Amino acid sequence: MPLNVVILAAGKGTRMFSSRPKVPHEVAGKPLLAHVVHSARQLKPKKICIVYGHGGEIIPQTFRAPDLIFVKQEPQLGTGHALLQALPHLNKTGLTLVLYGDVPLTTNKTLTWFLAGERNSIGILTTRLDDPSGYGRIIRDAKGTITAIVEERDATVQQLKITEINSGIMAIPNQFLSGLLQKIDNHNAQKEFFLTSIIALARKQNICIYGKQVEHGWETLGVNSKTQLAQLERLHQSLEAHKLLESGVTLLDPTRLDVRGELSCGNDVSIDVNCIFEGVVKLNDGVSIGANCVIKNSIVAAGTKILPFCHIEDAKIGRDCRIGPYARLRPGTAIEAEVHIGNFVEVKNTKIGTKTKANHLSYLGDSLIGRNVNIGAGAITCNYDGANKYQTIIEDDVFIGSDTQLIAPVVVKRGATIGAGTTLTKDAPAGALTLSRTKQVSIKNWKRPAKKKSVVK
Ligand code: UD1
Ligand code: CA
Repeated sequence: MPLNVVILAAGKGTRMFSSRPKVPHEVAGKPLLAHVVHSARQLKPKKICIVYGHGGEIIPQTFRAPDLIFVKQEPQLGTGHALLQALPHLNKTGLTLVLYGDVPLTTNKTLTWFLAGERNSIGILTTRLDDPSGYGRIIRDAKGTITAIVEERDATVQQLKITEINSGIMAIPNQFLSGLLQKIDNHNAQKEFFLTSIIALARKQNICIYGKQVEHGWETLGVNSKTQLAQLERLHQSLEAHKLLESGVTLLDPTRLDVRGELSCGNDVSIDVNCIFEGVVKLNDGVSIGANCVIKNSIVAAGTKILPFCHIEDAKIGRDCRIGPYARLRPGTAIEAEVHIGNFVEVKNTKIGTKTKANHLSYLGDSLIGRNVNIGAGAITCNYDGANKYQTIIEDDVFIGSDTQLIAPVVVKRGATIGAGTTLTKDAPAGALTLSRTKQVSIKNWKRPAKKKSVVK
């Protein structure tokens, strides 16, 4: 029996007060719609249809993928009208799961549990909320059978007291779709064709309806405003922090951590406050991360210490290194073991060998740096001539004096010493001292310029 998934994402998101449609807004660095598409894909359905409309082509342009069918709803006349637009793309038989593009945190476990079992009835995923305001209420008869869903604006005072709400997630056998959707009217306060109206219609046709109540209400929370977006972000982050704590990671304050992607940690990893992890980050055994670091798509090997205020992106850091405070590792940085990168050192597209140290104020770009190299304070690889970029090669056991400029392309051969203040324009031979300073002179009785009466008007 084929499973189809339809994701409704055509609404305007009026309450977001944004020029963009709602579903590209992000929770944990990922668009709301991408969370829902991810959940849909895990169910391995035959088809995934996304109904879009408000905001024009932004949604298909942003989310295009070979397995997604985009269907335009124009104008947007309500959730029932939205599902009707997808109908021609669905299988004649099977089951359609309706997801809402603004309900991003439903877990795969819950969806699988929801879909298990009945295939000839209409299923509604419900939950109880302490504050049900804004949601459609689930109406049950004396026997507990669901008879209707009433939207907040159409509800009576008594109905408003009901705390069981419609998550928006429904499973509808495809054989009933066409018949029910054609019959929906817009006789409600919002003058919209509500998908929720099919419940009362189905009752009239004696189609069975079942409700499954999900335990964790947060799984069904929707985003209609920036307040709800922020609430969902915090909720997601506290779940991430909880998972890390339960797997043995030390978080100095679980409320001050942001994971916007996948963070995996070995044993005895410690993370200080206000760190942000983006993309895929792997921290191996014994790694410690100081306060206020931003780390994106990087791997840190065992025993390395990242000190506070580091910014690290697309980097590979070996074991037992010491990075920071205030270091910036840009894409293409690959550092071997026991390396020290200190404050205000920027590294880009550069390989650094074991035990090399660059402790203060340097730019190392497009370079190959060997083992046991000492890079003095203020040393800079000049990799760019305004049009092209060139490589600097520094071989093993080199000592680069402070305030040195290495004008690429240039090679500093094994064991060479470069005197402080040198501007290196040619390769430096192995084992020798190379320096480009003029001789130091002292002028006796030197008179400093004295202040004249203004000469420049
Ligand atoms: C909807 C449900 C409500 C439920 C709540 C759960 C209806 C009528 N109401 O209310 O029972 O408790 O979700 O979060 O379904 N959309 C379209 N086309 C449209 C209108 C909306 O694609 O013409 C999409 C929106 O982009 C959104 C979803 O449908 O992703 C829900 O629409 P929204 O307006 O947010 O409905 P709610 O008022 O939240
Ligand atoms: Ca909503």
